[in-house]
Amino acid sequence: MSLRAAERMVFLPAFGGHSLPLWTFSEDSWLPVIRVPFGAVLEVDFENALPRDGEYATIHWHGIRLPNDQDGVPYLVQDPVLPGEAYHYRFIPPDTGTFFFHTHCNTAEHLGRGLVGILIVEGDETEPYDADELLVLRDWSVDLTSGMFRAFTTARGAADAGTLGEVRTVNGVVDPEIALPGKADCRLRILNVDPTRIMEIGIDGADAAVVAIDGIAVPPFPLDHWPLGPGMRIDVVIRTPSAGAARLIDHGAEPAAALARLVATGPALRAGRFDPAPLRAGRIPTPDPARAETVEFILASADVASFASGDPWRAILGELCLSGNGFWSIDEQMWPSALGSRLPRPLAQLRLGGTYRLVIRNQSDILHPTHLHGFSLHMRAANGMPSHYRDTVLVQPHGVVEGFFIADNPGSWMIHCHVAEHQETGMMGYFTVA
Ligand code: C2O
Ligand code: CU
Repeated sequence: MSLRAAERMVFLPAFGGHSLPLWTFSEDSWLPVIRVPFGAVLEVDFENALPRDGEYATIHWHGIRLPNDQDGVPYLVQDPVLPGEAYHYRFIPPDTGTFFFHTHCNTAEHLGRGLVGILIVEGDETEPYDADELLVLRDWSVDLTSGMFRAFTTARGAADAGTLGEVRTVNGVVDPEIALPGKADCRLRILNVDPTRIMEIGIDGADAAVVAIDGIAVPPFPLDHWPLGPGMRIDVVIRTPSAGAARLIDHGAEPAAALARLVATGPALRAGRFDPAPLRAGRIPTPDPARAETVEFILASADVASFASGDPWRAILGELCLSGNGFWSIDEQMWPSALGSRLPRPLAQLRLGGTYRLVIRNQSDILHPTHLHGFSLHMRAANGMPSHYRDTVLVQPHGVVEGFFIADNPGSWMIHCHVAEHQETGMMGYFTVA
């Protein structure tokens, strides 16, 4: 399959009658969806045809535990792909579930302009559900009068909770109507691909159960309000009403925002109690907490930090990966920074095969959805939620999150905030596994 990043004029109903110059991966759809069966090789011919000099790009396969050289981080694991250049990705996704992909520099603008795609690895259902729908949540930063993009990043936003878009959409539509069978068990794959907004997802008017978190199966448990930060996914099964609509709600907005109508039609497909079939259990080795060594990363504002000093032996980063502003840090280092254009030193060096307890401590006043490449963290059961895996954790202001993982995949792996403006102004780093 091929993906070609380019600027394309796209008319979405959400744009108030305008077409906008989106940056997208495909001619066929502004939001390409790749579906591969479990066990299959994913091969992608990627071409960068972005319209700006020096606007390099790579593809990061978010949440996929893949070989390090396929992880799509420019300079760290591959050379940046310049406009006019191509790159071939090839790997076997080791887990079933709901994932997505995006570039890894200048992401506030790239995501802001729409440059994202969905990756579904099939084969996790133990019994077929009655429907399988994607709900891709994101805002657009668009002035609906002029039909122009607003600023993708602002210093004020970057230093705070980020610059929010004002047009809220699901699958590119404001409050769409999603047709579902009546009295049926329907799978909803809910992804937050927004560069900035942390949502709190609930469903009104239908029983709903979470069956996967960040792509990986969990024993079904009732959905109440689910904090869904950028980069996070949940798979939910709902029992639709026999007629009428259920609603997808963001309770995190003030006032709560209705995001989509889930409209049931047709004859009832199910009777009896709502007891959705679980997904097939994941394949990630379970870490043994008793054997774990602790690694700790501290998220903080930039006041405590110095610009990452940079390793003289490592690559010089191109402009696109650098920012003139430094507002955030991990372990008192800021990456990227205009001052230290060398690739910084790793935040930690882990032993291949070692078991680790990763502690992420947030010393700032802002929430940070923190994403780990290459691994899924095993989270212990708490507050009525079963133990589960996550590749992105939401770290509350002055809060702590811990999860466990086995460092079974060698390479250099990113950890960063998935609020793009935080990532770009310092809250990014990497660790090595060797
Ligand atoms: Cu989806 Cu490094 O991120
Ligand atoms: Cu952040």
